Amino acid sequence: MCGIVGYVGEKQAAPILLEGLSKLEYRGYDSAGIAVFGTDGITVSKARGRLSVLSEKTEDGKAVPGVMGIGHTRWATHGKPSDVNSHPHISSSGRFAVVHNGIIENYISLKKKLQAKGVEFVSETDTEVIAHLFEYYYNGDMIETMIKVIHRIEGSYALGVLCADNPEEFIAVRKSSPMIVGLGEGENFIASDVTAILKHTRTIHYLEDDEIVVLSKDCVKVYNIDKEEIKKDVFTVNWDVSAAEKGGYEHFMMKEIEEQPKALRDTISPRIKDGKVVLDQFSMSDDDLKKLKKIHIVACGSAYHVGVVGKYVIEKLCRIPVEVEVASEFRYHDPIIDADTLTIVISQSGETADTLAALKEAKQRGSRILSIVNVVGSAIANASDDVIYTWAGPEIAVATTKAYSTQMAVIYLIALYFADKLDRIEKTEYNKILSEIESLPDKVSEILSQKEDVQYFASQFYNSKSIFFIGRNLDYAVALEGSLKLKEISYIHSEAYAAGELKHGTISLIEEGTLVVSLATGTELYEKTISNVKEVKARGAVVLGITTTEHEHTEDVCDHVVKVPATHPVLLPSLAVIPLQLFGYYVASLKGCDIDKPRNLAKSVTVE
Ligand code: G6P
Repeated sequence: MCGIVGYVGEKQAAPILLEGLSKLEYRGYDSAGIAVFGTDGITVSKARGRLSVLSEKTEDGKAVPGVMGIGHTRWATHGKPSDVNSHPHISSSGRFAVVHNGIIENYISLKKKLQAKGVEFVSETDTEVIAHLFEYYYNGDMIETMIKVIHRIEGSYALGVLCADNPEEFIAVRKSSPMIVGLGEGENFIASDVTAILKHTRTIHYLEDDEIVVLSKDCVKVYNIDKEEIKKDVFTVNWDVSAAEKGGYEHFMMKEIEEQPKALRDTISPRIKDGKVVLDQFSMSDDDLKKLKKIHIVACGSAYHVGVVGKYVIEKLCRIPVEVEVASEFRYHDPIIDADTLTIVISQSGETADTLAALKEAKQRGSRILSIVNVVGSAIANASDDVIYTWAGPEIAVATTKAYSTQMAVIYLIALYFADKLDRIEKTEYNKILSEIESLPDKVSEILSQKEDVQYFASQFYNSKSIFFIGRNLDYAVALEGSLKLKEISYIHSEAYAAGELKHGTISLIEEGTLVVSLATGTELYEKTISNVKEVKARGAVVLGITTTEHEHTEDVCDHVVKVPATHPVLLPSLAVIPLQLFGYYVASLKGCDIDKPRNLAKSVTVE
């Protein structure tokens, strides 16, 4: 949600800002704007709609002179998407231009105070108070002014601020909203994430909460809230520029689906040594592990669905009770957590506001935090006791695929590692699961090589009004993800049900021709799910069965069948999800949907 880019250097800033913003489009937005310091002071250009509208308005930035500027893509929270509500916002005198990612929770009281002093507001946004506060507190020193402003505002923010008195440098800060600093030669940057500046530099600083950065073309200085300069570590990003490009694919989503074998290999291989799972990044002692009474898994969206798989797998292999919950609920129900609880936090972006808040809640109650994160140095990674990174590379499509798959691989590794440390698993079983984990990338490739079958099936059903997904246990966990994938990108109503639960109400929605996708991959519950398939078929449903090559007779009951290779039962979700991702993709593609940027959705949800 919302993206920020800032530039100071010798090149024309506006085209660089627009190009950087285009790399942040995937985060989700509905309007965009830039402010550039030129010979006539600060020029602001902004427009509702896609970035292309702003690009057209500014001739791809060429019409806006100046070598320093800030840019923003806005995902509306306070006030509808409109030109006037778009960022940057300027102070009454025009001295300050501000871009903001996050929410200022006390903006109403601040706005009233400023209005009482005669300040006039033009937009409905919370951000505009920041521009006016800068004006109000300004004493000629930007760092001191920034410190005063951040003492007054409450909530989350990443801010980039231009001041008309200062043609050579600009200032930025962050708290609970992402921002990195890019270090170039004769040019420096800020950005919401590295993809925006990867083309220019791979050398970066990660900013901590309330660290203030002042950037000029040759210098970057970071200060704490007491105006003391602090030394920051320099990191080199190893993501390839091409990883954030489409590389010939029509959509990032398909590229990322196809990248799954590699992403899985990159995530799994470094963690297996001499026939054992090695989690170098996990520092909990074996004794503390043995004292664990409970595990909580908290996450949002697809990451939560990985958590549902995690509950089944960890409980099965480790015999520890696992509770899995969406982060937005977890934090508000007074969860029962203490020092003998481990909280596993799952997040691709590492910046989802609800997940971060849930993490803080669990930590405050004494729980140790282990996170599974894709973005190195992100807020969730920084706030955790231990982090196991998924090495999926940048994921651009809003609908996650490779991050989901790699998160699940990490869950398997954790479950196996814990089961071994707790002496809850036989050596032969351990070896069997480990060797199957290692073969997952090849098996995923095998499924992908038959993707045309799923494409054909999608072509028969892309006009459906409503589609149901059913399964039991782990198949149910995958059904949740399959249903979400379909609805978020194709806008077809869809629901996932535990197969045995359907008859308690939802079966009334099944009528002649309704498509039901039935997952029956495991052997233990296969017959039970098949009985549920018969129930829906008796009511007119058309059934697509997802099963494994081990089940030879699924064709006798289902109208269409997609088979994935057999593997250890606990690992089946990694294979079963692939046809469902493909199905969602092809249905959305046939319907002509904006697959990588579905309506109303954001990749990184940085508001509650
Ligand atoms: C958004 C995305 C989902 C994602 C969820 C959690 O809703 O659209 O694909 O699963 O956020 O994101 P995270 O970055 O925490 O995994």
